[in-house]
Amino acid sequence: MPKGFLWGGATAANQYEGGYNEGGRGLSIADILTGGSLNKKRRLTPPKPLEDEFYPNHEATDFYHHWKEDIAMFSEMGFKVYRMSISWSRIFPKGDELVPNEEGLKFYDNVIDELLDKGIEPLITISHYENPLHLSLEYGGWKNRKLIDFYLRFAEVLFKRYKGKVKYWLTFNEINMLTEPFGAVFCAGMLEEKDNTELNRYQAMHHQLVASALAVKMAHEIDANNKVGCMLAYHNMYPYTCHPEDILFAQKYAQLHNFIAGDVHVRGKYPGFAKRYYEENNIKLAVGREDYEILQQGTVDFISISYYSSACVSIVKAGEKTDGNGTANIKNPNLEASDWGWQIDAVGLRYVLNQIYDRYELPIMIVENGLGAVDVLSEDGAVHDAYRIDYMRKHIEQMKEAISDGVKLIGYTCWGCTDIVSASTGEVKKRYGLIYVNKHDDGSGDLSRMPKDSFYWYKRVIESNGAKL
Ligand code: BG6
Repeated sequence: MPKGFLWGGATAANQYEGGYNEGGRGLSIADILTGGSLNKKRRLTPPKPLEDEFYPNHEATDFYHHWKEDIAMFSEMGFKVYRMSISWSRIFPKGDELVPNEEGLKFYDNVIDELLDKGIEPLITISHYENPLHLSLEYGGWKNRKLIDFYLRFAEVLFKRYKGKVKYWLTFNEINMLTEPFGAVFCAGMLEEKDNTELNRYQAMHHQLVASALAVKMAHEIDANNKVGCMLAYHNMYPYTCHPEDILFAQKYAQLHNFIAGDVHVRGKYPGFAKRYYEENNIKLAVGREDYEILQQGTVDFISISYYSSACVSIVKAGEKTDGNGTANIKNPNLEASDWGWQIDAVGLRYVLNQIYDRYELPIMIVENGLGAVDVLSEDGAVHDAYRIDYMRKHIEQMKEAISDGVKLIGYTCWGCTDIVSASTGEVKKRYGLIYVNKHDDGSGDLSRMPKDSFYWYKRVIESNGAKL
């Protein structure tokens, strides 16, 4: 890998941190999401958690009380970068206050200082799937323009507090999930089913794009060294047949699901295909007078993506469905799938990296990639996760190919570098970590940590800068 390549791992506060009612933190939408499984959807219980219900994110895997120990393990693996998110409701418990919660900030001061002490660059996602619950109950989530100001107040506190300490920022996690029904709750905090319309989701996305552009501008003004990126859930969908209608359909799919958000973030304007889609689908956005100018002034410095799997789409032929990240599309007969039906496609990563770089010519970071799998503690007390190593090895091989193709890839943070709660199903059983956390879906477990085989493998990969796979 190129010199200075940013190897590391990634998590999100709502899925990892726990301490949901400690240190003055307010409730977030993740705190009223029950557990679920592959076949059982998570339920929302607004306006608050119920007494007799289990909420996996409340304690999650307890970074709140294990941060020092966990960062020591990240450091042992040789991380150069650690992607984390800040819990918005830990800083602004309701989201619309004027003054931040000092105790919440102190927690992140400690975490960030510890990372820097260990030579690990923090990469901060400002908003990762956890709007303060109050912003949903009182304002209806991101379909309401008022959230732009609340978000900017939050972002400003972070940019100022961590000036000179944090250089890499992401404004919104997987903003383009708003093109899918999945995004209504997770990205936009729109809790009512009736609010989950295309119009509301695209309106929420517009508000977030404006908020993001303003945040990029602000970050640069506060510290010219700041590098601010966007984050796209990269939906890689192949045409199921070679019928020209299918080729076009797959192209349209990518335009809609990846490139509307990507183009606005990177080029500062909506592409022509968005205008057509909005017109044909009666999506009439409420756009502020200066919005288009704002979008042009706040383009990002780099692009980051999550990439887990691929699938197929077709307009001419039906096929068996398979799951994926926030989507369900047609199964590709050439690919294997995880236990959760996410089809494993390492070569697809090379394809995607080329596609993005050809389009935008900006540095790219892969900030999520990994295998959600059931890990078993062996009789020797270890987790022998050869399947995870195999998954990561194949993806890293394709990253190298992409770099040889000319792609400017600057970093890789594997997802859930330690076991955390799954976003879509609420399970801990769907483990991504290189570190095993003794915690289970019924809430049991002493939260002790233990390296899996993949931990030692990744350590060697980082030590050799990707040479020893
Ligand atoms: C991404 C999210 O969509 O995928 C993460 O940014 C999430 O928050 C990850 O955890 C994997 O999805 P899941 O549902 O397996 O946790």
